[in-house]
Amino acid sequence: MRSVQTRLDTPRSYMREPGGAHPPLDCPPYRSSALRHPKQPLVYLPHTITEITGPRLLSELPVSEHDNDLTRQHEGEPIGERITVSGRVLDTEGRPLRDTLVEIWQANAAGRYAHRADRWPAPLDPNFSGAGRCVTGEDGRYRFTTIKPGAYPWGNSENAWRPAHIHFSLLGRAFVQRLVTQMYFPGDELLALDPIFNSVAEAKARERMLSRLSIERTQPHWALAYEFDVYLRGPQATPFEEAH
Ligand SMILES: [Fe+2]
Repeated sequence: MRSVQTRLDTPRSYMREPGGAHPPLDCPPYRSSALRHPKQPLVYLPHTITEITGPRLLSELPVSEHDNDLTRQHEGEPIGERITVSGRVLDTEGRPLRDTLVEIWQANAAGRYAHRADRWPAPLDPNFSGAGRCVTGEDGRYRFTTIKPGAYPWGNSENAWRPAHIHFSLLGRAFVQRLVTQMYFPGDELLALDPIFNSVAEAKARERMLSRLSIERTQPHWALAYEFDVYLRGPQATPFEEAH
């Protein structure tokens, strides 16, 4: 146990993913990636001790006790289907990673973000900001209480709709160790039509972006539970946005 503790306390160097399951930077069906992707080959900067050692995040994590409950951030409760979203953050071998800052952001139950750039005519919810964060415990687990987000239209084509999703950001021991992905819900018929979900070419990798309904963790008369484990790399790695 002691050796595991020492290993986790020591900031580790980061490796670049060899590729495979992650989405390409240029994905024509996802139209805006045409403007965003680099046109020149990437230049890999040498990795130095600075990226590994500092600044340390552990002692300054900006998280308070209730940041993981998105239904308790205002005077009243938000409208929508209350759910819990929880899971583990795991390394290549499936070992839990504690002290990982997990942040989420999402649309409200009507599919609208509390953001000035989101102007489509769905109602805003004064009791829902749509952002939360927490830190994984000793067992690598995180947990959020929130409401199920709605689908929303976007400008990719005349009639494009995003399936319900929750954005995830994971931050490790150093600022360079940030990974971003999206979590989806099982059985959503919009998944088959979504260019972002389908920018991940491998079907099995796409499945790793799906949460699963957990009746065991569902709280009777309170909230359905969804489980979503995040593997940082390896054969079961969760697809990340611009991971390479
Ligand atoms: Fe979104």
